[in-house]
Amino acid sequence: MNVLIIGSGGREHAIATSMKKSKRVDKLYCVPGNAGIAQIAECNPSIGVMEFDRIVEYAKEIKPDLVFVAPDDPLVGGLVDKLEAEGFKTFGPRKNAAILEGSKAFSKDLMKKYNIPTAAYETFDDADKALEYLEHADMPIVLKADGLALGKGVLICNTLEEAKAGVKEIMLDKHFGDSGNRMVVEEFMTGREVSVLSFVDGKTIKTMTSAQDHKRAQDGDKGLNTGGMGTFSPSPFYTKEVDEFCKKNIYQKTVDAMAAEGREFKGIIFFGLMITDKGPRVLEYNARFGDPEAQVVLPRMKNDIIDVCEACIDGTLDKIDLEFEDNAAVCVVLASEGYPVKYDKGFPIKGLEAFEGKDDYFCFHAGTKLSDDGQILTNGGRVLGITAKGADLREARKKAYEATEWVSFANKYKRNDIGKAIDEA
Ligand code: AMP
Ligand code: GLY
Repeated sequence: MNVLIIGSGGREHAIATSMKKSKRVDKLYCVPGNAGIAQIAECNPSIGVMEFDRIVEYAKEIKPDLVFVAPDDPLVGGLVDKLEAEGFKTFGPRKNAAILEGSKAFSKDLMKKYNIPTAAYETFDDADKALEYLEHADMPIVLKADGLALGKGVLICNTLEEAKAGVKEIMLDKHFGDSGNRMVVEEFMTGREVSVLSFVDGKTIKTMTSAQDHKRAQDGDKGLNTGGMGTFSPSPFYTKEVDEFCKKNIYQKTVDAMAAEGREFKGIIFFGLMITDKGPRVLEYNARFGDPEAQVVLPRMKNDIIDVCEACIDGTLDKIDLEFEDNAAVCVVLASEGYPVKYDKGFPIKGLEAFEGKDDYFCFHAGTKLSDDGQILTNGGRVLGITAKGADLREARKKAYEATEWVSFANKYKRNDIGKAIDEA
């Protein structure tokens, strides 16, 4: 088979790496890809993920047997529908199902209607009404821009003043563009956060091993929210009891709710969960693999990813026995100093060859590119996702941090406490 992957980050490199292992894959293509993906796939860096017509044109040229759409923007924008209409077998939710991630108001209303546990909330289209509501609300409180906002449209406000400023930022100043035309105001929850990703074929859901992300830029969960600075899998806080609760009250219920709404979901549902003292609650849904969750979950998956993707498309996921290795993985992101605000890029990356031939170590490229003379340069805020597998989380963590020393570039920055929470488990 020839497979085309849409996307360019560490997640896409992890997906490509999994597909490369499949006996069924002859050739991989990626749009736009990055310097790491280019080592295992033919990349077309001139096409952007939102250039649907050009993607279709390219697909007609290379004739892939399967297209995998990885990022949120093209999924929410309807790229899967567009490719399917042209006859391409495509993995990912259609536009009417990707709304599960594309609109926080939609997902909250769905959870309310189908009794899926989540934080209490109100939705506002009008800034004055939101301000009036906030005058009487308990603090802290959470404000969420309705639409996609690069993972940054969530504000946790400790005081009424902060909340008022938040309404201005989201609804009036339109910091997150049209995503802020509507806003969800949500009860603040405390607890342990866990991500559970799952494959879904419209009816059947198979969950993957759990993971935990570190969203803030600095050690001790300080600093600004980022796309994710590192992950570990499995989460020791995702106990059997939590799993049983979620299986009963969250996972299948979500899939059935989408089907009942006429929005059959095929692809990946990412459940962002908060394990509160009242039990697990849904923080958010994503309609795709997480980044950098994919970098710790996929290396532990035993199945051929192509078999699983096809089963999702064909509606035969009930026939798949989804299996994960009985070990652990940790991913530490090497970023450009200054990320997520302002940073320089274009620096040569040295030491990448150290990962060659080592089965337990992965260097997933996120923001990298090839220079005209063939050097690999930094090309983004998140540059590399250094991942290692170990017998347990402690060993995986030790190995991942060791491997972060194998590579160097001018403004290399990382958090030093990825997976530290495992010491508290
Ligand atoms: P989201 O994009 O909805 O996952 O929100 C980003 C982050 O904000 C989450 O990973 C949580 O850390 C935090 N967050 C979102 N909603 C809540 C909530 N209701 N209570 C507490 N923290 C939240
Ligand atoms: N790591 C969080 C996300 O991909 O949304």
